[in-house]
Amino acid sequence: MKILFATSEAAPFIKSGGLGDVAGALPPALAEIPGNEVCVVLPYYGTIKNSTQFDIEYVTSFYMPLGWRSTYVGVFKSVVKTKAKGRAKGKEIVYYFIDNEHYFCRGGKSPYGYEDDGERFAFFSKAVLEFLHHIDYTPEIIHCNDWQTGFVPLLLKALYGESERHRHIRTVYTIHNIEYQGKADGDFLGSVLGVDDSWRNGATFDGMINAMKSAIVLSDKITTVSRTYAHEIKYAYFAHDLDSILRENEYKTFGVVNGIDTKLFDPATDSTIPENYSTSDMSGKAKCKEELQKMLGLPVRPDVPVVSMVSRLVDHKGLELVEAVAHQLMELDIQLVVLGTGDKKYEDLFKFMDYAYADKMSANITFNAALANQIYAGSDFFLMPSKSEPCGLSQLISMRYGTVPIVRETGGLVDTVPPVNTETLEGNGFTFKTYNAHDMLGAVVRAVEFYHDGDKLERFRTKIMDYDSSWKKPAELYNGVYKELCGIIV
Ligand code: GLC
Repeated sequence: MKILFATSEAAPFIKSGGLGDVAGALPPALAEIPGNEVCVVLPYYGTIKNSTQFDIEYVTSFYMPLGWRSTYVGVFKSVVKTKAKGRAKGKEIVYYFIDNEHYFCRGGKSPYGYEDDGERFAFFSKAVLEFLHHIDYTPEIIHCNDWQTGFVPLLLKALYGESERHRHIRTVYTIHNIEYQGKADGDFLGSVLGVDDSWRNGATFDGMINAMKSAIVLSDKITTVSRTYAHEIKYAYFAHDLDSILRENEYKTFGVVNGIDTKLFDPATDSTIPENYSTSDMSGKAKCKEELQKMLGLPVRPDVPVVSMVSRLVDHKGLELVEAVAHQLMELDIQLVVLGTGDKKYEDLFKFMDYAYADKMSANITFNAALANQIYAGSDFFLMPSKSEPCGLSQLISMRYGTVPIVRETGGLVDTVPPVNTETLEGNGFTFKTYNAHDMLGAVVRAVEFYHDGDKLERFRTKIMDYDSSWKKPAELYNGVYKELCGIIV
């Protein structure tokens, strides 16, 4: 099958969050399935253009109508080989880049956050469809992701119904996070998208043009990044107002739990950590802990559990729970390590804790991928008290590094971290159900007790390291979705 994966970010070219990881790893896993021909399309951001790291060549350019404007579209590409196992040959994936310096070369590092983001990604979404007239590839499936490519199904139906190249394309729309919906005022439909008023109803929610809503209604299949999140977003607590729309479209919604790039996140080969280790020889993990404590200025103590968080410091990550019991947490004999940036109130909270409990707490208000890996490797527990979590990748990474997750039971955390039975060692981590600070504290206390309970932690570590978080299974599930849409019996 021919699958075009449309995304606003894809590692290693550009990544601001989990979507970048998914778009970096799922397409190669799809390409490994025999019979698939996978391409990825993303904006040609200035940061990619100016990097010497990638091998990118010019393909073509043309002008495209966007509402009343005629806009330049450049097309570039990079052909990347998947890393096949053993002696098998890797498969080729073509990454296409949509160029327009006005929209995508903004000087900043972040791909989003500009006043005209709606127009920038409306341009991108239209170019994703239009550039098919100019390249030698006609997909059967366009797989769109989050609000930035949410207008693709609308544009396809409204503007390309007569085109032979486009008529048979089916769309899959993956919701990575329903919080960010891509809203614009009513004029946007005609003046930017160039779509007539008969589509207004499908594209509008609560008086605004809404990319997420229009994709939910107009795509052929909706997927979310975990089974539990697919269920949760039918309820107001999780849906950021779109619960009724999701209930109406439940019949075409399907949850697929994300994987991670298990070659990239592998303590046996990771060159950013002080010493490698694997389930057959775990001695390197103790060394990683020692080096982490040294590097962060914490007392070097093998007998104290290191609990860490690598997270965007924003509300839905559950940081208010940490704030509410910060002092009780610090009364435990633990060391707390935090890495991430975000809302000032949380940055300040962690800086304050670092100041007040210098020998127990290390706040690193920055983003640093190597330090993140050193934290995953050097910690004993990984805390993720999320209020909502569509999938979450960090708990999967932490398990891969033998670091036990402590999570709230929501979204992908439910699907990937069943609670541990501390006798039989079934399950994957410590969990709590209610969004309540003392319930979280209770889970941390249970984890600390477990830490001191004989050799249980050592045995449990190697068990969770064997958890299969690769993309193989999820890629098969997505492939089943594509086949079903193309009328291929599965
Ligand atoms: C978003 C979600 C996160 C998910 C990621 C990749 O960032 O918040 O839970 O893991 O997308 O799908």
